[in-house]
Amino acid sequence: MKNKSLVSISDYSRDEILKVLELAALFEARPNRPLLRDKVVASLFFEPSTRTRLSFETAINRLGARVIGFTDSSSSSTTKGETLKDTIKMVSNYADLIVMRHPLEGSARYASEQARVPVINAGDGANQHPTQTLLDLYSIKKTQGTLDNLNIYMVGDLKYGRTVHSLLMALSHFNPTFYFVAPKELAMPREYKIFLKERGIPFYEQFEMGKLDQADILYMTRVQKERFSDPMEYERVKNAYVLRNAMLAGTRDKLRVLHPLPRVNEIHVDVDSNPKAYYFEQAENGVYTRMGIIAAIMGLEAELTNN
Ligand code: CP
Repeated sequence: MKNKSLVSISDYSRDEILKVLELAALFEARPNRPLLRDKVVASLFFEPSTRTRLSFETAINRLGARVIGFTDSSSSSTTKGETLKDTIKMVSNYADLIVMRHPLEGSARYASEQARVPVINAGDGANQHPTQTLLDLYSIKKTQGTLDNLNIYMVGDLKYGRTVHSLLMALSHFNPTFYFVAPKELAMPREYKIFLKERGIPFYEQFEMGKLDQADILYMTRVQKERFSDPMEYERVKNAYVLRNAMLAGTRDKLRVLHPLPRVNEIHVDVDSNPKAYYFEQAENGVYTRMGIIAAIMGLEAELTNN
């Protein structure tokens, strides 16, 4: 993991995933560890973000490094026509690590090929969001006590929702059973279903949420308005699923409701006070997990595990 970019969750093996989760637990136990005092991290957000950017910046600050970057590409020279390649080459001269969110699928891989320093993908279009996946795994392990043999329901926008794509790939190491709940316009893309079939991982597709009594994790997602080319299509599907508190009656005690956030209306606020609602804690876990990812890439693993 040392000095290696994190572009797709498939860049990490099962053991590397588990190592990051181990480091995240160390940071949760003691978050302030200024081990990167001499380092600069660039945070380049070409697309809006609240959680990913702020939790990365919190992680960087808690590790003692400094942050440079922009939160809106309109304040960068991108508006003058500067290419992503040139931007990344320049920023590589300034920082020891680059965290980047960009609306184009494949942009993170491209950036990692141009950069002289590791690049962490903070979301590239509808493609991948690997750091969200690692924090989702951390949250699942923390609440279920294991990552193995779980029934995972994924609900909502499974076509454009990059978090479900990354999470599905990561969980494939841990013998899951998937239930995909989506309208046909937002179904899980074919390539991910082929991925599962090739690995013999069972999945079921359904249009209704139905009974949730066998679910361990209910992973709700927002319909990604910004990725629709046809606004009428968005209008047709935007309210496809709304989880209400009453729907959690009869579910397993250990069931947890996760959501990468932001939510719009797919989880009614009456769920928030249910002890099975875990999405705000999940977002908090993002800080520890991102500290773990940065620590692994910056080669702090030995120092952390020996202290
Ligand atoms: N979960 C997530 O990526 O949230 P933000 O878009 O606010 O970063």
